Amino acid sequence: MAERMTVPRFAVRKRKGRKLVMVTCYDATFARLVDRADIDAVLVGDSLGNVIQGHETTIPVTLEDVIYHTRAVSRGLSHPLLVADLPFMTYQASRQDAMRSSGRLMQEGRAHAVKLEGGVRVAETVHAIVETGIPVMGHIGLTPQSVHGFGGYRIQGRGEEAAKRLKEDAKALQDAGVFSIVLEGIPTALATDISASLEIPTIGIGAGPNCDGQVLVLYDLLGMDESFSPRFVKQYTNLSNIVGEALETFAGEVREGAFPTEKHSFD
Ligand code: KIV
Repeated sequence: MAERMTVPRFAVRKRKGRKLVMVTCYDATFARLVDRADIDAVLVGDSLGNVIQGHETTIPVTLEDVIYHTRAVSRGLSHPLLVADLPFMTYQASRQDAMRSSGRLMQEGRAHAVKLEGGVRVAETVHAIVETGIPVMGHIGLTPQSVHGFGGYRIQGRGEEAAKRLKEDAKALQDAGVFSIVLEGIPTALATDISASLEIPTIGIGAGPNCDGQVLVLYDLLGMDESFSPRFVKQYTNLSNIVGEALETFAGEVREGAFPTEKHSFD
């Protein structure tokens, strides 16, 4: 039986050199499956804007959306740490906003921790949230809420100046009290340096193999969308084919009168 993951155990994992495994999840049915696997942490990411709602970016996602999905996921989980994303503009405008939004994710969504994007510029906000007793996960690098500022989903931290800024961001977040940092879309060497320089664990996505853990969007690793296979994703199965074949078989059997049979009918 997998141990229940907690915020303090995250740090222990880094000290022991045991990799952390995190996936995103958005509903109770998948949460039950994730719970049965040996997964350490579940993120109800604002990637739900892409994979659940069909938006191009995460920007339209609201706090209500994340609360709704986090509550659903919480019903299916017993072991992993449940982290919920603070959506765009629910924490940037003021510290009060950030604290209230985080409180709602914990109280209404039943999250164990919150995640937000940014480094030096959100460090004071992070500190204020952590001071209320809410664990915070940081997220730097290719932070999707800044996609328009970046001019697209581009690798960040290339070049000395950009790398230096990301190192400062990571250190500022650690000093502000985050228990872990997601490193997204940055060169392997930079992620390796940042991970080695911090006491808290880093969780990589498109950041190479030397982070203290890895996260993938659940629908990406399950191969739910054949047309989406960026270099940093590995599809561990091909659910889009499996689901497509099951649906075609169902449609064929209904049309041929092969379903339902007596076995599926009542007297
Ligand atoms: O929203 C999300 O799913 C994320 C992960 C990709 C880290 O932030």
